[in-house]
Amino acid sequence: MSRLIVVSNRVPLPAKNGAASAGGLAVALQSALAARGGLWLGWSGKICSDEPVGPLTMLKDGNIEYALTDLTDLDVEEYYQGFANRVLWPICHYRLDLAEYGRREMTGYFRVNQFFASRLLPLIQKDDVIWIHDYHLIPLAEELRRQGVKNRIGFFLHIPWPAPDVFLAMPVHDELLKSLTAYDVIGFQTRQDRENFAACLARQNIGERLGEEEFSAAGRTFIARPYPIGIETDEFAKLARQAGNTTLHKRMRQSLDGKELIIGVDRLDYSKGITQRIDAFETFLTRHPDYQRKVTLLQITPKSRSEVPEYEAMQKTVAEQAGRVNGALGTVDWVPIRYVNRSLRRPALAGLYRMAKVALVTPLRDGMNLVAKEFVAAQDEDDPGVLLLSRFAGAAHELKEAMLVNPYDVEGTADVIARSLAMPRDERQARWKSMMATVRENNVFTWCDTFLGDLAGDEAPEGVEQPRLKRVSR
Ligand code: F6P
Repeated sequence: MSRLIVVSNRVPLPAKNGAASAGGLAVALQSALAARGGLWLGWSGKICSDEPVGPLTMLKDGNIEYALTDLTDLDVEEYYQGFANRVLWPICHYRLDLAEYGRREMTGYFRVNQFFASRLLPLIQKDDVIWIHDYHLIPLAEELRRQGVKNRIGFFLHIPWPAPDVFLAMPVHDELLKSLTAYDVIGFQTRQDRENFAACLARQNIGERLGEEEFSAAGRTFIARPYPIGIETDEFAKLARQAGNTTLHKRMRQSLDGKELIIGVDRLDYSKGITQRIDAFETFLTRHPDYQRKVTLLQITPKSRSEVPEYEAMQKTVAEQAGRVNGALGTVDWVPIRYVNRSLRRPALAGLYRMAKVALVTPLRDGMNLVAKEFVAAQDEDDPGVLLLSRFAGAAHELKEAMLVNPYDVEGTADVIARSLAMPRDERQARWKSMMATVRENNVFTWCDTFLGDLAGDEAPEGVEQPRLKRVSR
């Protein structure tokens, strides 16, 4: 097997004490790297004020090397906070109204991609396969090709690819589309994302579609395929089963005092539909007063990207909204919404998912949404909770037995909350069983195996199985 190089904006370093804090994606990629030996390159998260940026920080863990680069203030401002998070992120999440396009940020984005290429170039060996992740690094392969790199290079987009009318509203759409044709494999979360991408190419007359998944452009061929990302299903289910004995679990049960728990877990991001969700919860309580004092919504929302103005503004909006609902409907001994801005460790989260009767996963747009899959994995098969899921999350393409909602329809969502809480056990079990089978089958290791199999580019000879990934122990 060839050596693997992974490149992503952030690099999840292995936890020093082996704690199970890393998400499934990090574990799967670390497993892939460990299986063949490899290198993971990305931003160290550090910002330096002096130029030029110092040498890479190299760390080693078994046969995985981590290569971390600092970025300058200007890099972070233009590339990460600017073009990636104020242009690409809102556009890919259908929020043209929030896109703040500026040439300075766009130039910074391409410049930092060139910089990543220059950092990676000396580390590449002849047979390495290179796997680049997410919207921060779209032009990276093109930069590498320009410098003569002939290796197989794949790209996986973790967020949605929007419809052409939305994507093409971005001034540099052609540069980005053309740069993607430098990859050998382009992965999307869903078929719909791939079709949106294909429609953008067709609309702009870039290349040619040779088949459902094969394309050609500028004398090269590449494939574009959906690879729905999954979680470490069995591991997460185990964490949830074990959580019952923890102090947090017991304290939470005690504090609920017999009330039903509804749970929402999201980064504080406008794409997650948190304000619409709180509106829906308020409408549900108002329309179904019998449930007042009988249910509690626990909304766990760690702050994110606080340096970006839209995110900073949202912190205030959501906190005020939760406070208003609590003030209007709460009583001396009941707080309808518990709103928490800190992140929880995975075992604690798994236990809370298992305790919840309903999960509200209602993004306005989401590439996949792994909270939906984790909630399913965490359930007790004898008495599973109900997943209420936005039809605009990538996960809705797979988890069809969830209670699908349109999060823009606040009253409709409120009705589905009521139906979910009242759902009989046999229906909950039937829905859960089918979703769990999907979450088990399309787990994060399958995702990684399938993508890397395609990136290897060679079909296994008949009767010979491709090597499967094994979890690395943490
Ligand atoms: O979902 C896209 C993504 O970039 C993830 O890869 C990442 O974990 C998350 O958003 C958080 O974003 P940031 O790295 O900007 O904090």
